[in-house]
Amino acid sequence: MFIEISNLRKSYGFKENRTEVLKGINASVEKGEICVLLGPSGSGKSTLLNIIGGIDQADSGYIAINGEKTVEMNEKRLTRYRRKHLGYIFQMYNLIPNLNVKENIEVGAYLSDNPLEINDLLNVLGLYEHRHKLPNQLSGGQQQRTAIGRAIIKNPDILICDEPTGALDYNTSKDILKLIEDVNKRYGNTVIIVTHNDAIKNMADRVIKLRDGQIRKNYVNTEKIAAQDLEW
Ligand SMILES: Nc1ncnc2c1ncn2[C@@H]1O[C@H](COP(=O)(O)OP(=O)(O)O)[C@@H](O)[C@H]1O
Ligand SMILES: [Mg+2]
Repeated sequence: MFIEISNLRKSYGFKENRTEVLKGINASVEKGEICVLLGPSGSGKSTLLNIIGGIDQADSGYIAINGEKTVEMNEKRLTRYRRKHLGYIFQMYNLIPNLNVKENIEVGAYLSDNPLEINDLLNVLGLYEHRHKLPNQLSGGQQQRTAIGRAIIKNPDILICDEPTGALDYNTSKDILKLIEDVNKRYGNTVIIVTHNDAIKNMADRVIKLRDGQIRKNYVNTEKIAAQDLEW
């Protein structure tokens, strides 16, 4: 297995305010899979992603990538892991307002040894003709496409998408999910999509449902459908 999550526990707060957010999570994701992580708000999805992403630490248990436990990485190794192996997409695009589309994407290539070719990528993203526009000249969907470009230009092994369509309308959401699917097919990145939209699970290879810090369901989706055929 590519990503192994073993007995992961995490609490926040002290004494009477202490709450257990992850209550012993076990799961795995294979290389190249699209994994959809579902769960209501507050169920611990972002906390789990942050631990996978090496930006937060579990209290016990571990995450292993290709057999290597993140808890056993020293600071230098962990920084390398975050830089080289992880791409992030969030609900908020966080583009740099005074850089154009192309430049915003190129920001993500900084520190990468072998970034994707920018013009190819702009075409895949459907942004080539918009490459000289500033973020405030773009629609929400185009801004999210730019943010996706910034995340994948370094061709990360793992693409983490935390509520990537949370701020988008129905049609634009489907376009963005289709783009994530295209990227997964073309570049083979392992993709984790976090959402509270149940319909999105249908485009996944693997579905993990969280509730109250515990896994309620974890299965391989044998009836995968294309993102553009999703309905909700
Ligand atoms: N840094 C933090 N400090 C204290 N509590 C936190 C922190 N991060 C998350 N929580 C709490 O943990 C729970 C799960 O949060 P989160 O992982 O963000 O859930 P989700 O992404 O599923 O909405 C929530 O009750 C939240 O308030
Ligand atoms: Mg969240």
